Amino acid sequence: MSGRVAISGSKNAALPILAASLLTTGRCHLTNMPDIDDVNVMLKILADLGSQIKRPHRHEIIIATPKIRLSTPNPQLVQRLRASILLAGALIARTGQCRLFHPGGCVIGRRPIDTHLEAFRQLGVALRQEDNYYQLTTKQLRGRQIFLDEVSVTATENAVMAACLARGKTTITPAACEPHVVDLCLFLQKMGYQISGAGNHTIVITTNNKQLSTINIEHRLISDEVETGTLAAAALITKGKITLDNAPVDNLASIIHKLRQFGGRLSIKKPSLIVEYTEPLTAAGVQVDTWPRLPTDLQPVLTVLATQSRGTSLIHDWMYERRLGYIDELVKMGASITLCDPHRAIVAGPTKLSGGQIISPDIRAFLLFTLHYGQTYCH
Ligand code: EPU
Repeated sequence: MSGRVAISGSKNAALPILAASLLTTGRCHLTNMPDIDDVNVMLKILADLGSQIKRPHRHEIIIATPKIRLSTPNPQLVQRLRASILLAGALIARTGQCRLFHPGGCVIGRRPIDTHLEAFRQLGVALRQEDNYYQLTTKQLRGRQIFLDEVSVTATENAVMAACLARGKTTITPAACEPHVVDLCLFLQKMGYQISGAGNHTIVITTNNKQLSTINIEHRLISDEVETGTLAAAALITKGKITLDNAPVDNLASIIHKLRQFGGRLSIKKPSLIVEYTEPLTAAGVQVDTWPRLPTDLQPVLTVLATQSRGTSLIHDWMYERRLGYIDELVKMGASITLCDPHRAIVAGPTKLSGGQIISPDIRAFLLFTLHYGQTYCH
């Protein structure tokens, strides 16, 4: 694989930021927006709720919500993406209520939302659960010291959004520090909300007048570090050379470090990343974790890289029970992998992969199935 391509805006920044657009009656002009199905589904949900949306360009959205028409996001659409849970924090802050179906998303584990619900409870939200619905109501959100049982990205984002219109000061700890959490906080700061500590494990939101913002916002989303890492690994797997423009070069330390350990040559020429295969790849351990360590979303791609590297690589992903669910499919394609338990796999390489009929349980695993020889039918 050779050539030059521009990296898209970050999916996991776009989705919370679109939900957070409900926290102003003003107009939000968003650029570097990825043109992907999840964004389109989120826009449909928001349009149903009352948002007025214009799309002057594939990567540019203008959204304004002077009035909310509904506080029940469309259940069929909600079940199509995990990030629909982010509507809860914004809706509860703006309208004092939200009726939400259990969110969908990739099949990578149980994906509970208990940490979100507990954060809402701590902020003064009453919760009623019936079948697959959550009914959230509050007369007045109260700023509090919130403790999160899990350092969850979306639970942190939900708590931050709800706290923007709570009375008093909210402290969220341990908060997730991922770059997309920081981008969301920056977007909310532009609306006038007082948020400090984003990027650290303690985020403080101080609300003096608990008034809904009316400010118009311009915001350029950060670029996607997982897309960057995926294409960089793909270049090494296919013995190529690529230049990735519009790359989030300040957010790539763990990814560049790991790809160099595998033997890739990587250099930064801001805002581009150049990746080149120059020598046979060698095995390296892959241990995912929360920011700033390797993201779990890159684990499937690094596992394929390990199948093309000389030696034995241990892959360890503690975060989701089923994120190694694609391994059986990769073995069908010729990989030599021993699954030790649901979280650890040992890959022996290099092995030649060939096409076949396979099932992909999640989008990150799907991408890797295209990186082999022959034709694959994947569903
Ligand atoms: N967790 C709980 N309870 C909760 C929430 C999370 O126990 O209420 C646990 C999960 O079981 C998991 C850990 O906490 O072990 C992390 O879950 P988290 O909530 O951080 O994940 P998420 O919000 O569902 C976001 C990304 C994922 C990414 C993870 C980890 C978005 C929209 N999604 O998911 O992205 O894998 O953080 O970085 O931001 C992807 O893009 O393919 C993707 C799955």
